[in-house]
Amino acid sequence: TMNLSHHIILSVMITLALMSSGSKVIALDNGLGLTPQMGWSTWNYFACEINETIIMEIANALVSNGMKDVGYTYINIDDCWQGERNSTGHITPDSERFPHGMAYLADYVHSLGLKLGIYTDAGVLTCQRRPGSFDHEEKDAQTYASWGIDYLKEDWCYAYIEDPPKRYAIMSKALNETGRPIFFSLCDWGTDKPWKWGPTVGNSFRTTKDIADNWDSFLFNLDHQIDIASYSTIGGWNDPDMLEVGNGGMTNTEYTSQFSLWSLLNAPLIAGNDLRNMDQETLSILSAPEVIAINQDPLGVQGKLVRSINGGLAQVWARPLADGSRAVVLFNRDTSSASIQLEWADIWLMSGDQMTVRDLWERQDLGVFTGSYLSLNIPSHGCVML
Ligand code: GLA
Repeated sequence: TMNLSHHIILSVMITLALMSSGSKVIALDNGLGLTPQMGWSTWNYFACEINETIIMEIANALVSNGMKDVGYTYINIDDCWQGERNSTGHITPDSERFPHGMAYLADYVHSLGLKLGIYTDAGVLTCQRRPGSFDHEEKDAQTYASWGIDYLKEDWCYAYIEDPPKRYAIMSKALNETGRPIFFSLCDWGTDKPWKWGPTVGNSFRTTKDIADNWDSFLFNLDHQIDIASYSTIGGWNDPDMLEVGNGGMTNTEYTSQFSLWSLLNAPLIAGNDLRNMDQETLSILSAPEVIAINQDPLGVQGKLVRSINGGLAQVWARPLADGSRAVVLFNRDTSSASIQLEWADIWLMSGDQMTVRDLWERQDLGVFTGSYLSLNIPSHGCVML
Protein backbone atom coordinates (compact mmCIF):
# COMPACT_ATOMS: atom_id res chain seq x y z
CA THR A 1 0.00 0.00 0.00
CA MET A 2 1.32 3.43 -0.87
CA ASN A 3 1.75 5.97 1.86
CA LEU A 4 -0.81 8.76 1.89
CA SER A 5 1.25 11.68 0.58
CA HIS A 6 2.66 9.56 -2.25
CA HIS A 7 -0.88 8.57 -3.07
CA ILE A 8 -2.25 12.11 -3.09
CA ILE A 9 0.61 13.50 -5.18
CA LEU A 10 0.20 10.74 -7.76
CA SER A 11 -3.55 11.18 -7.93
CA VAL A 12 -3.25 14.91 -8.47
CA MET A 13 -0.61 14.40 -11.18
CA ILE A 14 -2.73 11.85 -12.99
CA THR A 15 -5.85 13.93 -12.83
CA LEU A 16 -4.04 17.01 -14.14
CA ALA A 17 -2.40 15.02 -16.92
CA LEU A 18 -5.67 13.50 -18.02
CA MET A 19 -7.61 16.69 -17.79
CA SER A 20 -5.16 18.88 -19.64
CA SER A 21 -4.75 16.51 -22.57
CA GLY A 22 -7.92 17.75 -24.29
CA SER A 23 -9.06 21.30 -24.84
CA LYS A 24 -11.73 21.46 -22.18
CA VAL A 25 -14.71 23.67 -22.64
CA ILE A 26 -16.99 24.79 -19.86
CA ALA A 27 -19.96 22.47 -19.64
CA LEU A 28 -23.53 23.57 -20.16
CA ASP A 29 -24.67 24.95 -16.85
CA ASN A 30 -28.06 23.30 -16.46
CA GLY A 31 -27.05 21.26 -13.44
CA LEU A 32 -27.68 17.94 -15.21
CA GLY A 33 -25.43 15.07 -16.20
CA LEU A 34 -23.05 15.31 -13.24
CA THR A 35 -22.61 11.59 -13.88
CA PRO A 36 -23.49 9.87 -17.17
CA GLN A 37 -27.23 9.43 -17.68
CA MET A 38 -28.78 6.02 -17.07
CA GLY A 39 -32.06 4.81 -18.46
CA TRP A 40 -33.78 2.98 -21.27
CA SER A 41 -34.79 3.91 -24.82
CA THR A 42 -37.34 2.52 -27.27
CA TRP A 43 -35.09 2.64 -30.31
CA ASN A 44 -32.80 -0.39 -30.31
CA TYR A 45 -35.54 -2.96 -29.78
CA PHE A 46 -38.87 -1.39 -30.77
CA ALA A 47 -37.66 1.10 -33.42
CA CYS A 48 -40.78 2.83 -34.78
CA GLU A 49 -43.30 0.36 -33.30
CA ILE A 50 -44.02 2.18 -30.05
CA ASN A 51 -47.06 3.19 -28.00
CA GLU A 52 -47.98 4.32 -24.49
CA THR A 53 -48.68 0.77 -23.25
CA ILE A 54 -45.14 -0.31 -24.09
CA ILE A 55 -43.69 2.73 -22.32
CA MET A 56 -45.76 2.11 -19.19
CA GLU A 57 -44.98 -1.60 -19.11
CA ILE A 58 -41.27 -0.94 -19.56
CA ALA A 59 -41.33 1.65 -16.77
CA ASN A 60 -43.08 -0.85 -14.50
CA ALA A 61 -40.51 -3.52 -15.37
CA LEU A 62 -37.58 -1.21 -14.69
CA VAL A 63 -38.91 -0.61 -11.19
CA SER A 64 -39.92 -4.19 -10.35
CA ASN A 65 -36.70 -5.79 -11.65
CA GLY A 66 -34.49 -3.55 -9.50
CA MET A 67 -32.92 -1.49 -12.31
CA LYS A 68 -34.31 1.71 -10.84
CA ASP A 69 -32.55 0.91 -7.57
CA VAL A 70 -29.15 0.62 -9.28
CA GLY A 71 -29.54 3.98 -11.01
CA TYR A 72 -31.62 3.72 -14.19
CA THR A 73 -33.82 6.82 -14.26
CA TYR A 74 -34.81 7.96 -17.75
CA ILE A 75 -37.49 6.27 -19.85
CA ASN A 76 -36.78 7.67 -23.31
CA ILE A 77 -39.20 7.67 -26.22
CA ASP A 78 -37.18 7.85 -29.43
CA ASP A 79 -38.45 8.55 -32.95
CA CYS A 80 -42.06 7.98 -34.11
CA TRP A 81 -44.08 9.45 -31.24
CA GLN A 82 -45.00 12.61 -33.15
CA GLY A 83 -48.30 13.27 -34.85
CA GLU A 84 -48.96 16.54 -36.67
CA ARG A 85 -47.93 20.10 -36.04
CA ASN A 86 -51.31 21.77 -35.41
CA SER A 87 -52.64 25.08 -36.77
CA THR A 88 -50.92 27.06 -33.99
CA GLY A 89 -47.61 25.40 -34.78
CA HIS A 90 -47.61 23.14 -31.73
CA ILE A 91 -46.40 19.57 -32.02
CA THR A 92 -48.92 16.90 -31.02
CA PRO A 93 -48.32 13.22 -30.27
CA ASP A 94 -49.51 10.47 -32.61
CA SER A 95 -53.04 10.05 -31.24
CA GLU A 96 -53.32 6.36 -32.07
CA ARG A 97 -50.11 5.44 -30.31
CA PHE A 98 -50.37 7.93 -27.45
CA PRO A 99 -54.14 8.41 -27.00
CA HIS A 100 -53.83 10.00 -23.54
CA GLY A 101 -51.10 12.42 -24.59
CA MET A 102 -47.63 12.99 -23.25
CA ALA A 103 -48.47 14.78 -19.99
CA TYR A 104 -50.42 11.70 -18.92
CA LEU A 105 -47.43 9.49 -19.67
CA ALA A 106 -45.03 11.87 -17.90
CA ASP A 107 -47.27 11.86 -14.82
CA TYR A 108 -47.32 8.09 -14.81
CA VAL A 109 -43.55 7.78 -15.20
CA HIS A 110 -43.02 10.42 -12.49
CA SER A 111 -45.36 8.54 -10.15
CA LEU A 112 -42.86 5.67 -10.31
CA GLY A 113 -40.00 7.99 -9.39
CA LEU A 114 -38.62 7.92 -12.94
CA LYS A 115 -38.15 10.59 -15.61
CA LEU A 116 -39.51 10.78 -19.15
CA GLY A 117 -37.47 11.58 -22.25
CA ILE A 118 -38.50 12.27 -25.82
CA TYR A 119 -36.89 12.82 -29.16
CA THR A 120 -36.84 15.43 -31.87
CA ASP A 121 -34.70 16.46 -34.79
CA ALA A 122 -32.83 19.66 -35.59
CA GLY A 123 -34.01 19.43 -39.20
CA VAL A 124 -37.43 19.73 -40.79
CA LEU A 125 -38.18 16.02 -40.39
CA THR A 126 -36.98 13.31 -38.02
CA CYS A 127 -35.09 10.35 -39.44
CA GLN A 128 -38.41 8.48 -39.66
CA ARG A 129 -39.98 11.50 -41.40
CA ARG A 130 -42.09 12.77 -38.52
CA PRO A 131 -42.11 16.57 -37.92
CA GLY A 132 -38.74 17.95 -36.76
CA SER A 133 -38.09 21.04 -34.63
CA PHE A 134 -36.38 23.22 -37.24
CA ASP A 135 -37.53 26.81 -36.66
CA HIS A 136 -39.94 25.59 -33.96
CA GLU A 137 -37.40 25.21 -31.19
CA GLU A 138 -38.93 27.69 -28.70
CA LYS A 139 -42.45 26.39 -29.15
CA ASP A 140 -41.35 22.76 -28.91
CA ALA A 141 -39.22 23.35 -25.81
CA GLN A 142 -42.20 25.06 -24.15
CA THR A 143 -44.47 22.19 -25.14
CA TYR A 144 -42.09 19.56 -23.78
CA ALA A 145 -41.75 21.48 -20.51
CA SER A 146 -45.53 21.83 -20.21
CA TRP A 147 -45.89 18.06 -20.57
CA GLY A 148 -43.28 17.45 -17.85
CA ILE A 149 -40.56 16.08 -20.12
CA ASP A 150 -37.14 15.64 -18.45
CA TYR A 151 -34.85 14.68 -21.33
CA LEU A 152 -34.59 15.56 -25.00
CA LYS A 153 -32.56 13.79 -27.68
CA GLU A 154 -32.19 15.90 -30.81
CA ASP A 155 -31.23 14.13 -34.02
CA TRP A 156 -29.67 15.51 -37.20
CA CYS A 157 -31.68 14.15 -40.18
CA TYR A 158 -32.97 16.59 -42.82
CA ALA A 159 -30.92 19.40 -41.34
CA TYR A 160 -29.24 19.99 -44.74
CA ILE A 161 -26.67 22.79 -44.68
CA GLU A 162 -27.30 23.86 -41.10
CA ASP A 163 -24.29 24.25 -38.82
CA PRO A 164 -24.62 21.77 -35.89
CA PRO A 165 -23.19 23.95 -33.09
CA LYS A 166 -25.41 26.87 -34.11
CA ARG A 167 -28.57 24.86 -34.62
CA TYR A 168 -28.21 22.85 -31.43
CA ALA A 169 -27.52 26.04 -29.47
CA ILE A 170 -30.98 27.32 -30.42
CA MET A 171 -32.69 24.32 -28.81
CA SER A 172 -30.28 24.40 -25.87
CA LYS A 173 -31.23 28.00 -25.12
CA ALA A 174 -34.92 27.29 -25.64
CA LEU A 175 -34.78 24.40 -23.18
CA ASN A 176 -32.99 26.51 -20.58
CA GLU A 177 -35.54 29.28 -20.98
CA THR A 178 -38.37 26.94 -20.01
CA GLY A 179 -36.96 26.91 -16.48
CA ARG A 180 -37.48 23.14 -16.34
CA PRO A 181 -34.32 21.03 -16.02
CA ILE A 182 -34.27 19.06 -19.28
CA PHE A 183 -31.27 16.86 -20.02
CA PHE A 184 -30.11 17.65 -23.58
CA SER A 185 -28.70 14.79 -25.65
CA LEU A 186 -27.17 15.80 -28.99
CA CYS A 187 -27.19 13.33 -31.87
CA ASP A 188 -25.25 14.55 -34.90
CA TRP A 189 -23.47 11.15 -35.08
CA GLY A 190 -20.06 12.79 -34.64
CA THR A 191 -20.48 14.56 -38.00
CA ASP A 192 -19.17 17.90 -36.79
CA LYS A 193 -16.79 16.74 -34.03
CA PRO A 194 -19.32 17.49 -31.27
CA TRP A 195 -16.79 16.57 -28.57
CA LYS A 196 -15.18 19.97 -29.35
CA TRP A 197 -18.30 22.10 -28.81
CA GLY A 198 -20.92 19.75 -27.39
CA PRO A 199 -20.27 20.33 -23.68
CA THR A 200 -21.30 23.99 -23.95
CA VAL A 201 -24.54 23.09 -25.71
CA GLY A 202 -25.70 19.73 -24.41
CA ASN A 203 -25.19 17.15 -21.67
CA SER A 204 -24.06 14.37 -24.00
CA PHE A 205 -23.31 14.02 -27.68
CA ARG A 206 -23.24 11.04 -29.99
CA THR A 207 -19.76 10.49 -31.40
CA THR A 208 -20.48 7.90 -34.09
CA LYS A 209 -23.05 6.40 -36.41
CA ASP A 210 -25.78 4.20 -34.94
CA ILE A 211 -24.79 1.06 -33.10
CA ALA A 212 -26.18 -2.23 -34.40
CA ASP A 213 -26.57 -5.44 -32.44
CA ASN A 214 -23.37 -7.11 -33.58
CA TRP A 215 -19.72 -7.44 -32.57
CA ASP A 216 -18.27 -5.40 -35.48
CA SER A 217 -20.59 -2.48 -34.82
CA PHE A 218 -19.74 -2.52 -31.12
CA LEU A 219 -16.01 -2.48 -31.93
CA PHE A 220 -16.45 0.27 -34.54
CA ASN A 221 -18.12 2.56 -32.01
CA LEU A 222 -15.67 1.60 -29.26
CA ASP A 223 -12.61 2.31 -31.40
CA HIS A 224 -13.92 5.74 -32.31
CA GLN A 225 -13.72 6.74 -28.65
CA ILE A 226 -9.96 6.22 -28.45
CA ASP A 227 -8.85 9.63 -29.75
CA ILE A 228 -11.58 11.70 -28.12
CA ALA A 229 -11.56 10.44 -24.53
CA SER A 230 -10.03 13.60 -23.14
CA TYR A 231 -12.85 15.84 -24.40
CA SER A 232 -15.54 14.20 -22.29
CA THR A 233 -16.36 16.18 -19.19
CA ILE A 234 -18.72 16.29 -16.25
CA GLY A 235 -22.06 17.45 -17.65
CA GLY A 236 -20.92 16.89 -21.26
CA TRP A 237 -20.30 13.23 -22.02
CA ASN A 238 -19.15 11.46 -25.16
CA ASP A 239 -21.95 9.13 -26.27
CA PRO A 240 -20.89 6.02 -28.24
CA ASP A 241 -24.63 5.14 -28.55
CA MET A 242 -26.94 2.91 -26.58
CA LEU A 243 -26.55 -0.55 -25.09
CA GLU A 244 -27.49 -3.63 -27.10
CA VAL A 245 -27.32 -5.93 -24.05
CA GLY A 246 -30.13 -8.48 -24.26
CA ASN A 247 -31.12 -7.88 -27.87
CA GLY A 248 -29.86 -11.25 -29.10
CA GLY A 249 -27.30 -10.41 -31.78
CA MET A 250 -24.27 -10.86 -29.54
CA THR A 251 -23.28 -13.39 -26.91
CA ASN A 252 -23.55 -12.61 -23.21
CA THR A 253 -19.74 -12.53 -23.14
CA GLU A 254 -19.82 -9.79 -25.78
CA TYR A 255 -22.60 -7.92 -23.99
CA THR A 256 -20.57 -8.07 -20.79
CA SER A 257 -17.72 -6.45 -22.74
CA GLN A 258 -19.96 -3.69 -24.08
CA PHE A 259 -21.28 -2.99 -20.60
CA SER A 260 -17.79 -3.00 -19.06
CA LEU A 261 -16.27 -0.71 -21.67
CA TRP A 262 -19.24 1.67 -21.81
CA SER A 263 -18.94 1.96 -18.04
CA LEU A 264 -15.22 2.63 -18.22
CA LEU A 265 -15.80 5.25 -20.96
CA ASN A 266 -18.37 7.21 -18.93
CA ALA A 267 -20.83 6.46 -21.71
CA PRO A 268 -24.53 6.97 -21.11
CA LEU A 269 -25.95 3.65 -19.90
CA ILE A 270 -29.16 3.54 -21.90
CA ALA A 271 -30.52 0.01 -22.10
CA GLY A 272 -32.24 -0.87 -25.36
CA ASN A 273 -33.78 -4.30 -24.86
CA ASP A 274 -37.30 -5.44 -24.01
CA LEU A 275 -37.15 -5.19 -20.23
CA ARG A 276 -40.50 -6.99 -19.94
CA ASN A 277 -39.02 -10.20 -21.30
CA MET A 278 -35.41 -10.71 -20.37
CA ASP A 279 -33.51 -13.54 -18.80
CA GLN A 280 -31.67 -13.39 -15.51
CA GLU A 281 -28.25 -13.19 -17.12
CA THR A 282 -29.22 -10.11 -19.15
CA LEU A 283 -30.58 -8.46 -16.01
CA SER A 284 -27.43 -9.27 -14.06
CA ILE A 285 -25.25 -7.70 -16.79
CA LEU A 286 -27.36 -4.52 -16.79
CA SER A 287 -27.44 -4.37 -12.99
CA ALA A 288 -23.82 -5.13 -12.00
CA PRO A 289 -23.39 -2.71 -9.10
CA GLU A 290 -19.60 -2.42 -9.05
CA VAL A 291 -19.43 -1.92 -12.82
CA ILE A 292 -22.12 0.76 -12.71
CA ALA A 293 -20.20 2.44 -9.87
CA ILE A 294 -17.25 2.92 -12.25
CA ASN A 295 -19.54 4.58 -14.80
CA GLN A 296 -20.97 6.84 -12.11
CA ASP A 297 -17.66 7.66 -10.40
CA PRO A 298 -17.72 11.35 -9.43
CA LEU A 299 -14.22 12.09 -10.78
CA GLY A 300 -15.82 11.89 -14.24
CA VAL A 301 -12.62 11.14 -16.15
CA GLN A 302 -13.32 9.00 -19.22
CA GLY A 303 -11.33 5.79 -19.51
CA LYS A 304 -9.05 5.25 -22.44
CA LEU A 305 -6.99 2.67 -24.23
CA VAL A 306 -3.65 2.57 -22.42
CA ARG A 307 -1.97 -0.42 -24.10
CA SER A 308 -2.52 -2.61 -27.12
CA ILE A 309 -0.92 -6.06 -27.31
CA ASN A 310 -0.71 -8.66 -30.06
CA GLY A 311 -1.69 -6.34 -32.90
CA GLY A 312 -4.57 -4.90 -30.90
CA LEU A 313 -6.22 -8.27 -30.16
CA ALA A 314 -5.53 -7.78 -26.46
CA GLN A 315 -6.13 -4.38 -24.91
CA VAL A 316 -5.79 -2.64 -21.58
CA TRP A 317 -8.30 0.17 -20.96
CA ALA A 318 -8.11 2.21 -17.75
CA ARG A 319 -9.13 5.31 -15.85
CA PRO A 320 -8.51 6.91 -12.48
CA LEU A 321 -11.28 7.07 -9.87
CA ALA A 322 -12.22 9.66 -7.29
CA ASP A 323 -10.91 7.60 -4.36
CA GLY A 324 -7.43 7.29 -5.90
CA SER A 325 -7.90 3.75 -7.16
CA ARG A 326 -8.03 2.80 -10.84
CA ALA A 327 -10.54 0.96 -12.97
CA VAL A 328 -9.25 -1.42 -15.62
CA VAL A 329 -10.74 -3.50 -18.43
CA LEU A 330 -8.56 -6.26 -19.87
CA PHE A 331 -10.25 -6.89 -23.21
CA ASN A 332 -9.67 -9.98 -25.36
CA ARG A 333 -10.75 -9.23 -28.95
CA ASP A 334 -9.22 -12.47 -30.26
CA THR A 335 -11.14 -15.51 -31.50
CA SER A 336 -9.61 -17.71 -28.80
CA SER A 337 -9.14 -17.24 -25.07
CA ALA A 338 -6.08 -15.29 -23.92
CA SER A 339 -4.19 -14.23 -20.82
CA ILE A 340 -3.53 -10.52 -20.42
CA GLN A 341 -1.07 -8.98 -17.97
CA LEU A 342 -1.83 -5.62 -16.41
CA GLU A 343 1.36 -3.66 -15.72
CA TRP A 344 1.33 -1.04 -12.99
CA ALA A 345 2.78 1.41 -15.53
CA ASP A 346 -0.51 1.06 -17.46
CA ILE A 347 -2.36 2.59 -14.53
CA TRP A 348 0.03 5.32 -13.44
CA LEU A 349 1.64 3.37 -10.57
CA MET A 350 5.23 2.61 -9.63
CA SER A 351 6.32 -0.96 -10.17
CA GLY A 352 7.07 -1.30 -6.44
CA ASP A 353 3.57 -0.30 -5.35
CA GLN A 354 1.52 -2.97 -3.66
CA MET A 355 -2.08 -2.91 -4.78
CA THR A 356 -5.20 -4.80 -3.87
CA VAL A 357 -6.84 -6.14 -7.03
CA ARG A 358 -10.58 -6.73 -7.10
CA ASP A 359 -12.73 -8.40 -9.76
CA LEU A 360 -15.74 -6.12 -10.30
CA TRP A 361 -17.92 -8.73 -12.03
CA GLU A 362 -17.18 -11.47 -9.49
CA ARG A 363 -17.26 -8.87 -6.72
CA GLN A 364 -14.33 -10.34 -4.90
CA ASP A 365 -10.78 -9.38 -4.05
CA LEU A 366 -8.13 -11.35 -5.92
CA GLY A 367 -5.24 -10.52 -3.59
CA VAL A 368 -2.44 -8.01 -3.15
CA PHE A 369 0.01 -7.70 -6.05
CA THR A 370 3.21 -5.78 -6.77
CA GLY A 371 4.12 -4.50 -10.24
CA SER A 372 1.65 -6.45 -12.34
CA TYR A 373 -1.38 -8.69 -12.33
CA LEU A 374 -1.81 -11.56 -14.78
CA SER A 375 -5.35 -12.51 -15.73
CA LEU A 376 -5.53 -16.02 -17.16
CA ASN A 377 -7.89 -17.42 -19.80
CA ILE A 378 -10.06 -14.43 -20.60
CA PRO A 379 -12.67 -15.84 -23.00
CA SER A 380 -12.75 -14.83 -26.65
CA HIS A 381 -14.49 -11.43 -27.02
CA GLY A 382 -14.67 -11.22 -23.23
CA CYS A 383 -13.04 -9.07 -20.63
CA VAL A 384 -12.05 -8.88 -17.00
CA MET A 385 -12.91 -5.72 -15.13
CA LEU A 386 -10.78 -4.78 -12.14
C1 GLA B 1 -30.97 8.18 -36.00
C2 GLA B 1 -30.33 8.14 -34.60
C3 GLA B 1 -30.81 6.89 -33.86
C4 GLA B 1 -32.32 6.90 -33.77
C5 GLA B 1 -32.93 7.01 -35.15
C6 GLA B 1 -34.42 7.23 -35.09
O1 GLA B 1 -30.51 7.13 -36.79
O2 GLA B 1 -28.94 8.16 -34.69
O3 GLA B 1 -30.22 6.83 -32.59
O4 GLA B 1 -32.73 7.97 -32.96
O5 GLA B 1 -32.38 8.10 -35.89
O6 GLA B 1 -34.98 7.40 -36.36
